[in-house]
Amino acid sequence: MFIAPRMKRLGTETAFEVLARAKELEAKGVDVVHLEIGEPDFDTADHIKEAAIEALRDGKTGYCAAPGIPPLREAIAEDAGSRRGVTIDPDRVVVAPGAKPIITNTVLTVVDEGDEVIYPNPGFPIYESMIHFVGGKAVPLRLREENDFRFDIDDFLGLVNDRTRLIILNTPHNPTGGILTKRELEVVAEAAVKHDAYVLTDEVYLNIIYDGEHESIYSLPGMEERTILLDGLSKSYAMTGWRLGYGVYPKPLVEHITRLNINSISCTSHFSQYAAIAAITGPQDHVKKMCAQFKERRGVIVDGLNSIPGITCRKPGGAFYAFANVGGTGWKSADLARDLLDKAGVATLNGASFGEFGEGYIRLSYANSIENIEKALGRIREFLS
Ligand SMILES: Cc1ncc(COP(=O)(O)O)c(C=O)c1O
Repeated sequence: MFIAPRMKRLGTETAFEVLARAKELEAKGVDVVHLEIGEPDFDTADHIKEAAIEALRDGKTGYCAAPGIPPLREAIAEDAGSRRGVTIDPDRVVVAPGAKPIITNTVLTVVDEGDEVIYPNPGFPIYESMIHFVGGKAVPLRLREENDFRFDIDDFLGLVNDRTRLIILNTPHNPTGGILTKRELEVVAEAAVKHDAYVLTDEVYLNIIYDGEHESIYSLPGMEERTILLDGLSKSYAMTGWRLGYGVYPKPLVEHITRLNINSISCTSHFSQYAAIAAITGPQDHVKKMCAQFKERRGVIVDGLNSIPGITCRKPGGAFYAFANVGGTGWKSADLARDLLDKAGVATLNGASFGEFGEGYIRLSYANSIENIEKALGRIREFLS
């Protein structure tokens, strides 16, 4: 059967494959601790659910505006702008079913065949997948463990040039938990202006920062004209299954992104958007509580990993992932991740599934209870000994 050759260039997100394998094992009676999928283990707050139920009762069950309903675009503009000290025009906001389509639609819209795209490596695999899919040239920017998984400024300056069409940033970062500082952002902003490149800043972990303040390239002077700000409700509000994300775009891109919405999804679920308004404009104490729990778990998992011979782990500044260096165990990360699942009942991800510079690491999501994290650590220790 014919399959368009471009499909060979489309990558994937391994977390979903490992989750499927873990579920298979569970169906056979194996006890698995899930540290693979990047999903808060908390339920969506009640007031958010109530808003969706009320919207359903109120008949918000049909199609709606392709770029998102006006009150949600206004709420996002107000919230995203005030958190970054800028004013955002709601007309620049496009809502989508999750943050992922913002990556897909941005790359489809601004990257042509042969254009260079700089992206973090290790990094969220969908960046590289989409660059290859559209025939762009993927230019990995190494994140260095010795820099707490920030990139080296000289590495970056050696990669950026007049063929660079797009620079992708992700802070706080998946899979390392690294956080970019104002210094790196200023260097990227200056280079983007000099080489007339777009910037896509993926800030879906904005609400999950443990130490210090979030810095966004979107706040730097002149950057809103060339920056796509990506955020969503999945991680911040424990709403992964609701499928709610958004992009804030330079004005000329909005009509193209909206047309992609019309061609692919028509619109984002109408009643879900009322839940998004309640999440963004309502009480935020549940978000702070979730973050405090992640912080406690971070301590348990990082200390535990560092106490296992052959493993070292930096303390992540944000998100809910530990990116453990397993070089000292003598294992290749793919083999270790596979055997930890098959032989020890601990689901983790191979660091290399986040790109070539992830080899030698495994990612453990600590969006799980302390009890389960301790159980997993015990199993990893026993397996390696
Ligand atoms: C860095 C990053 N960006 C985007 C996404 C996609 O989020 P969503 O579930 O809202 O599509 C994820 C999800 O894991 C992520 O880690």
